[in-house]
Amino acid sequence: MVTKTLNYFPVATKDLKVNTILDFDIFIQTSSNIILFRKQNLPFTENTLHNLASNKVKTLFISEDDRDKVDNYHQTLQNNNSTNISSEGFSAPFDNPENVEKYYKTYFNYYPIEKENLLPGSRINFNICKQSNIDVEPYIGPGNKNGLSDVVPENIHESNFPIVIHNGDIPLYKEYIKNIASEHLQLSKNIPDFQYNIIRENSKFVIRDILEDPKNQDNTHQASELVETLFNTIMDNKNNFNRLLKITTHDYYTYTHSLNVCSLSIGLGASINLKDSELIELGLGALLHDIGKCSVDPRILNKPGILTAEEFKDVQCHVTASKGLLGQRISKNSLSTILQHHEKMSGSGYPYNLAGDQIHLFGRIGAIVDFYDALTTKRPYKKAYTPFEAFQLLSEVKEDYDQSLIKRFIVMLGNQVKA
Ligand SMILES: [Fe+2]
Ligand SMILES: [Fe+2]
Repeated sequence: MVTKTLNYFPVATKDLKVNTILDFDIFIQTSSNIILFRKQNLPFTENTLHNLASNKVKTLFISEDDRDKVDNYHQTLQNNNSTNISSEGFSAPFDNPENVEKYYKTYFNYYPIEKENLLPGSRINFNICKQSNIDVEPYIGPGNKNGLSDVVPENIHESNFPIVIHNGDIPLYKEYIKNIASEHLQLSKNIPDFQYNIIRENSKFVIRDILEDPKNQDNTHQASELVETLFNTIMDNKNNFNRLLKITTHDYYTYTHSLNVCSLSIGLGASINLKDSELIELGLGALLHDIGKCSVDPRILNKPGILTAEEFKDVQCHVTASKGLLGQRISKNSLSTILQHHEKMSGSGYPYNLAGDQIHLFGRIGAIVDFYDALTTKRPYKKAYTPFEAFQLLSEVKEDYDQSLIKRFIVMLGNQVKA
């Protein structure tokens, strides 16, 4: 802790770019002191920015000793032609409202599919599009429209562009998956991840349905059944379940995030020897942890830009909204995962500002896994961190996350990589 302010110079938060690594310590001013806020070599994330904004901090302080480093940092941003972020949180190409609308149109009307689930040489009765930048273009489809073929190309698995289908074609795609599953499974020796792909794809459908109609009792039952399937899959192959979490180049979707958080929470829970019944409770809470997001404006939730302080407040409401949606339908332990996944060990989380042991074990697990998945997911305005970068960040934010769980988490995922 430092008491003099003379040796520090101010930098506005808006002059630091989100998702850049700062190689200098940053300090904040309290009523009487300047105190260390973040150590050097940590990324300045969207979370950091929101944390500062919610505490009304607009100016940071940096030691005079680091002035050269800060100058270099700004110089590098300039040299890289770093894009400016507008006051609404948009940067190019989304600083053009037309592009934002195009993006929303694609995002809300199309569903990303995994090309690994398509059987080369098979005929399809639905249309598949290539997703390019913010638009889609027809790729494969029936009826020889625009000269397209309805046969899945032999090299489909080698292509490196994301593919999507129109939401209206989802039932046809579901049927296709069902029809080829048994045939494909017989070939599973040649396509080792296929059964995991199918579980993941079916899980996404189930979670998508739940998020669309969270009050529906049938959907709650479906959620329980899904958690059991995921639990069995993970326990059958504890060191290789990361096949369920395939990294995709698609944008963030709440249903994919929910599936990842559920699988990783069960994996982490198993690595600390929780009982099977506890893992099921934890898994259900993790699967439904963001269910309250269905009451947040989807344009805010899926904004292709950094949220403003007001928008962030709207998104934060998802935690308490979940409570109203689920009521008494899930156990107390499952509910703790949901209500506490944004709490931080330091007490700076939300919505209850719980600290340390006040946070349920399931809440602490949920917080780590949720943060990890958010870091390693691509957004239109940010790249995905590699697992290594995410581990580094998690273990350096000592005050916010349960460090003994972080260590277990890193070991667990490390074993997966080796498997
Ligand atoms: Fe959340
Ligand atoms: Fe989340």
